[in-house]
Amino acid sequence: MSESASKIGAPETSKIITLTDTQNGLSVELPVLSGTSGPNVIDIRRLYAETGMFTYDPGFTSTGSAESAITFIDGEAGILLHRGYSIEDLAEHSDFMDVSYLLLYGELPNKPQRDKFAHDVSYHTMLHEQLTYFYRGFRRDAHPMAIMIGVVGALSAFYHDSLDINDARQREITSYRLIAKMPTIAAMAYKYSIGQPFIYPRNDLNYAENFLHMLFAVPAEEYDVNPVLARAVDRILILHADHEQNASTSTVRLAGSSGANPFACIAAGIASLWGPAHGGANEAVLRMLEEIGSVERIPEFLERAKDKDDPFRLMGFGHRVYKNYDPRASVMRTSAHEVLEELGVQNEPLLKLAMELEKIALEDPYFVERKLFPNVDFYSGIILRAMGIPMDLFTVIFAVARTVGWLAQWNEMIEDPSQKIGRPRQLYTGAPKRDYVSIDQR
Ligand code: SDX
Repeated sequence: MSESASKIGAPETSKIITLTDTQNGLSVELPVLSGTSGPNVIDIRRLYAETGMFTYDPGFTSTGSAESAITFIDGEAGILLHRGYSIEDLAEHSDFMDVSYLLLYGELPNKPQRDKFAHDVSYHTMLHEQLTYFYRGFRRDAHPMAIMIGVVGALSAFYHDSLDINDARQREITSYRLIAKMPTIAAMAYKYSIGQPFIYPRNDLNYAENFLHMLFAVPAEEYDVNPVLARAVDRILILHADHEQNASTSTVRLAGSSGANPFACIAAGIASLWGPAHGGANEAVLRMLEEIGSVERIPEFLERAKDKDDPFRLMGFGHRVYKNYDPRASVMRTSAHEVLEELGVQNEPLLKLAMELEKIALEDPYFVERKLFPNVDFYSGIILRAMGIPMDLFTVIFAVARTVGWLAQWNEMIEDPSQKIGRPRQLYTGAPKRDYVSIDQR
């Protein structure tokens, strides 16, 4: 963000390539840009002006949509770096506030910076009291992701003093507000669904502890946060904090590219995250494991996952970028063992089933040939379930964690001088121009 966000280097033109249409001899020279790591990109911005042609890349499998200095993924090697630091190191040595600061400002904070950041974020944990009435408009059985989209979008109607996207300080305040309020909004969605009173945040607790407190405390009793569980939640938050230009982040950037306010943009990101091919997969994994039920039934479900006529896919498996083990899944798997041991449920049948499913799938030629490995969502649900967190809150927790990534990417986009409204083109395959037919002649 504003003062110290670091962009390590502007891209350099490493060479020029020439694209030639051999039929009419038309050729165009395009610069090839190099970043600090990862594949080079062909800069096609002049392509349409010079050739009258667009590129075509549904699903953006070969398209870089942004220049970014936040997160780097080497999918072949299974490497994930935030601002150059490996996700394994961050998960082991940092906490979520450190990582949030790193994503937003480009550097790990020193002690005074960290303390000030954690304090300033905690200052915004409460919601405007009027917002509590919004919850009552939802059915008690509403999916909490539906509530998240509604309430986060509604924040734009409450915090008018920080909506000027061209003011760096207002963007910073909005970022702190969103990071701080997401656990409060999520916990309130949960409390509403079970008919318990909302629990106000406690700023003497750290981010993960406060989240657990708001989820599980009741006014009638003392609630002591288990430090092992708080650490596990904190690690889950770190592992989900950012992931380059994934679907929900790209949604936030696209929504923000029109100048929309940040609360609306983050609500759009939450909507995109909800889908089972994206953040909704953590909930879908648990439902799938419950449906499989026993090790004997794994082969039957693997056959279904391979059958192109069957919509069933192995949830928590496969990734657009990782063609190797998702490094976050390895950390999550270790964490699952630690948490289950702490809770005295080492023999949790679903963990055994998940490990067996992983083993069988990783030996199956279909999954081997397609390089389908477990992703971040495969083990997270097992940890969350063991902690007593209901399934339909899993994706909400992903949203709480990803908010800082969305904001870091949104801020980076606003500060990018080459930023324009996102406006893809298309390959039109509909009817060509034709004459209007009046209704009596149709
Ligand atoms: C997240 O992008 C990100 O960074 C996302 C994320 C983040 O932090 O933001 O990492 C979070 O979204 C993790 C992914 C969670 N989703 C799931 O676990 C759902 C199950 N997985 C998939 O549906 C799928 O693998 C995707 C959506 C994750 C990736 O889809 P792609 O890149 O479009 O790959 P694809 O569908 O083209 O698959 C390639 C092949 C196909 O077979 P063929 O047509 O070549 O024969 O692999 C097959 C697919 O059918 N395949 C699977 C499969 N995933 C892919 N077959 C069975 N089970 C699967 N899970």
